Amino acid sequence: MIDHRHSDVAIVGGGIIGCAIAYYLSNQRLRCSVFDSGSLAGEASQASAGMLAAFMEADAPGPLAKLCIASQSRYAALAKRLYDETGIDIGYSQFGTIGIARNEAELSELKRRLEWFVGLGQAAEWLEPAQLRTLEPALADRLLGGVHTPSDHSVSSYHTALAFAEAAKRWGTRFYERTPVYRLLAENGRVIGVETAFGRMTADFVVVAAGSWSPSLLEPLHVKLPVYPVKGQCYSVILPFPLRRPVFAGKCYAVPKPDGTVVIGATQEEAGFDKKPTAEAIATLHETAKSMIPGMKDAKFVRTWAGLRPGNPNRKPIIGPVEGWEGLYVATGHFRKGTLLAPATGEMMASLITGFPTDLDAAPFAPKGHGLSEI
Ligand code: GLY
Repeated sequence: MIDHRHSDVAIVGGGIIGCAIAYYLSNQRLRCSVFDSGSLAGEASQASAGMLAAFMEADAPGPLAKLCIASQSRYAALAKRLYDETGIDIGYSQFGTIGIARNEAELSELKRRLEWFVGLGQAAEWLEPAQLRTLEPALADRLLGGVHTPSDHSVSSYHTALAFAEAAKRWGTRFYERTPVYRLLAENGRVIGVETAFGRMTADFVVVAAGSWSPSLLEPLHVKLPVYPVKGQCYSVILPFPLRRPVFAGKCYAVPKPDGTVVIGATQEEAGFDKKPTAEAIATLHETAKSMIPGMKDAKFVRTWAGLRPGNPNRKPIIGPVEGWEGLYVATGHFRKGTLLAPATGEMMASLITGFPTDLDAAPFAPKGHGLSEI
C-alpha cells in the first residue's frame, strides 16, 4: 500500500516553478507532493503576462541569458507535449515580439541588446519606423525604430502551471492545495519533510519553491535567502483594432492574449506583500501604453490586478541545493522571469536530484554565491 504521508520529494509552492519541478521530477518516476497554502498558480503565476522574451529580460550575455534562451527554446515542444498529455492549451503564441524606441535612450539600449543577442546566434533585426508600422499598424508613428525578435513568444503562465500540474498528477504527483507548510522538518543536518496544516509529511528531498514566501520557511534553519516581493501591477483591455504580438518600451509591455484581451504591465514596486492595485500606477502604465499604441485611448477597460515577483538583488534565480542541509533545495528569486525560466528550472532541479543528464548548467545559480548565508 502506498504511504501518502511519505514522498520522494516534497515541493513547497504550487506556482509555475513548483509545478514545473513536479512535472520534470515525476517524468523521472519520482513520487512528489506539492503543497500550496492557496490554490495552484494563485499568486505570481496568475498575475504574469506570460511573455517569453529573452531579449527583454536578459540584460547582458552570460549564464542567465543562455538559460533564458535555452528555457524559451523548450516551449514549442513543451506546449505540444503538455497538450497531448493533458488537453490543456497553454496559449503558446508565436508572432515574435517588438521592442520599440521612443527616445534616444531607448534606442541606444535596444541597439546594445541587439548586438549581443545576435552575437549569441539569436534571430533579431532592427526595424525602421515604417517597417515597424507595417508589422504592427497600431504602433505610434513617431517612434525612432525598434527590434523584432521572431522567436520571443508568449504563453498563459497560469495555464502552463496548471498543465504542468495536471501532467505531473498523471505521473503520480499529489497536490495539496490550501495546505500551508508551517515549517520544514530537519534532524541531524538533513531535511526529512514538512509540517503542514494536515500534519507531518515526510520526504527524502524538500524543494522550497514558494516564490516571495520562501525566505520565511528557511529562516528557522538559519538560512537567509535574499528574496523579497516586487509588486507588479497590470491591467487588461480590449482594443478596437488588432495587435498581433507583444510590444514593449523600457519595462512596459502590451501582450495580446488568445481571449482577445491585451495585458498591459507592469510596475516594479518594493511594497512588501501588498497586492493592491492603485489608480495612480494604472494611470501611469496607461500613459506609457498610449505612447506605444496611441489607439489605447479608445480601449475598453477589462480589469486590473497585481502579483508579487520573487526579487533578488542580483536579479538571478537561486536554484540548487542548500549547503549545510542535506536533501534541501531551493528554486526561487526568478524575479521577472518565472514563466520564461520554468521549463529550465524544472529540468535542472530534476537533474540535480536524480542525476539525469541535461545540457543546462545549474552551477551559476547555485544558492552558494547568491547572498545565501547563515543568519
Ligand atoms: N515578466 C515581466 C514582468 O515580470 O513584469
